[in-house]
Amino acid sequence: MGLASWYEANIMPRLIACACSQGQVMKRRAAVVPLARGDVFELGCGGGINHEFYNRDAITSYAGIDPHEGLLEGTRAAARTKGWAADLRQGRGEAIPFADESFDCVVCTFTLCSVEDPAQVMREMRRILRPGGTALFLEHGRAPDPQVRGWQGRIEPVWKRLAGGCHLTRPIATALSGAGFAVERLGEGYTPKAPRFAGWMKWGVARKVD
Ligand SMILES: C[S@@+](CC[C@H](N)C(=O)[O-])C[C@H]1O[C@@H](n2cnc3c(N)ncnc32)[C@H](O)[C@@H]1O
Repeated sequence: MGLASWYEANIMPRLIACACSQGQVMKRRAAVVPLARGDVFELGCGGGINHEFYNRDAITSYAGIDPHEGLLEGTRAAARTKGWAADLRQGRGEAIPFADESFDCVVCTFTLCSVEDPAQVMREMRRILRPGGTALFLEHGRAPDPQVRGWQGRIEPVWKRLAGGCHLTRPIATALSGAGFAVERLGEGYTPKAPRFAGWMKWGVARKVD
């Protein structure tokens, strides 16, 4: 195993788990994930951090995909702790291995920053949602302040390599609006105690529209 693959398998998942479970980030998850209802699909479910926030009484089934086998192990452990039957598959958002209109709700937290082709992933999210279904999102991305944006652009090439392909400059909520979703923003802002270049977040509900 080369150094890059060793890093990807052993260090990167730990870094992601640490950054993504920081206290302020967990507060934001708590504002979004409990809204999941019905048949739920989680995109990029690696690590399983969201499981503690799901309202089990509101959910009829849970499925998720992630390309990273090591991170999926964490999701399997979280599902066991939750005590629910989870349909977890290795896969990518660009080709979600589920049929059209299978789900009421897609949950997407800190994943659209990392996928290779966000436009294709959003098409897939739309495809698997039933009419009127919702995508709950919590993502970091392009900051509104020019100075922070400048740093995001400078840091992104190195950051991407260290953080599993994570981009700093994607305009997530705007992209969802242009991809056949009506976006109701629940919140946005810099995350306290996080570096501003990675700390600008938006969260909300994106409803599938015709
Ligand atoms: C920063 S982590 C966030 C994990 C989890 N969503 C969370 O909120 O803690 C980014 C996740 O996106 C996954 N990912 C990367 N590329 C992906 C793709 N093309 N399709 C689906 N998931 C992807 C990674 O494996 C990783 O689990």
